[in-house]
Amino acid sequence: MKYDIKDIKLAREGQLRIEWAAQNMPVLALIQERFEKERPLEGIRMAACLHVTTETAQLMKTLKAGGADVALCASNPLSTQDDVAASLVEHDGIPVFAIKGEDNQTYYSHIEAVLDTKPHLTMDDGADLVSVIHQERNDLFEHIIGGTEETTTGVIRLKAMAKDGVLKYPIVAVNDADTKHLFDNRYGTGQSTVDGIIRATNRLVAGSTFVVVGYGWCGRGLAMRAQGMGARVIVTEIDPVRALEALMDGFAVMPMDQAAPVGDFFCTVTGNIHVIRKEHFAAMKDGAIVSNSGHFNVELDLNGLEEITKSKRDIRPFVVEHALASGTRVYVLGEGRLINLAAAEGHPSSVMDMSFANQALSAEYMVKEARNLDNAVYPVPREMDQEIARLKLAAEGAQIDVLTEEQEKYLNSWDMGT
Ligand code: ADE
Repeated sequence: MKYDIKDIKLAREGQLRIEWAAQNMPVLALIQERFEKERPLEGIRMAACLHVTTETAQLMKTLKAGGADVALCASNPLSTQDDVAASLVEHDGIPVFAIKGEDNQTYYSHIEAVLDTKPHLTMDDGADLVSVIHQERNDLFEHIIGGTEETTTGVIRLKAMAKDGVLKYPIVAVNDADTKHLFDNRYGTGQSTVDGIIRATNRLVAGSTFVVVGYGWCGRGLAMRAQGMGARVIVTEIDPVRALEALMDGFAVMPMDQAAPVGDFFCTVTGNIHVIRKEHFAAMKDGAIVSNSGHFNVELDLNGLEEITKSKRDIRPFVVEHALASGTRVYVLGEGRLINLAAAEGHPSSVMDMSFANQALSAEYMVKEARNLDNAVYPVPREMDQEIARLKLAAEGAQIDVLTEEQEKYLNSWDMGT
């Protein structure tokens, strides 16, 4: 079996951490049990490009239990947990191509290695597999039946491809399931981003001014948690409705020009390019700490920052000090890559349980349905989303009401008024 990881001797450490994650992934465990019996992915080759974490390991085991031959590469050069990669190779016989800190060339060579397995299904987090296949590996179209996509950024890319008529196979947008973005993007990003910033800096959040750039589901979660730790939170937005929501959620709202000189912490979660630019870095106060928790590091204009940087040094792991020509210092965390995975461990397993339940069931759905689908981006079927919520509630020991017959009738009628 071919693979490329940091060190196979890390396998035991990875195995214990994977076991720890499993304790909070009951929904995926139920799916894994059923997959073992029914083998819905028998004979299916899968290429997965995901953050290589303990939670991803549980997903890989589930797909394998379902009969899939799966190969895994990283969806970001800095997010791989090397012990997890080692355990997947050693204990599960899954080929992994991922090393934390790999350079861009290695990152893409790992994508190629996974694609060389000639997959029937692709599983992306950020659409890099789809992008490489469509740009350079058209030879693979004859094998591929469909794919899935984990994240907002990937879904945006894929919808743009579908709109331009270039998407060559159907994709399920896992991100758009309620049981994914309402929990993973909001509570997962909220907690793990603050975790990453604190692990990297060990700075006090209480009493600071924390600028959250973007108020999508990730921004909402991050603002809520930063406020919970005692920060004065400022939100910057381009969408008037989201900005209004941030305002009424109790946050200050202003453009980046005004936020730049007052923030102590800045974190981007927009999915867009260059939302913090040279002029903003130049206006920041001495000691400002800047990070990104969006999928790609393009959110920060790091080239622009380089242009005004006089000197640079690594001051502690994941923290680079930029001494600017003007005399102020700006600290960039984790090379501007998603800080929750670069400096911490990503979202906690309890939310990834639902995200990856959606992934596993979407893979099964694709095997059954892909041939009836157009080359477009599809939502996760509503019943699947609801079933995942039901299973998670049951696992949490929570019960809910059911509609009475009278209520059901009322909801379907239009003639009853005051
Ligand atoms: N994305 C964010 N957190 C993650 C995690 N823990 N595992 C896989 N992908 C993630």
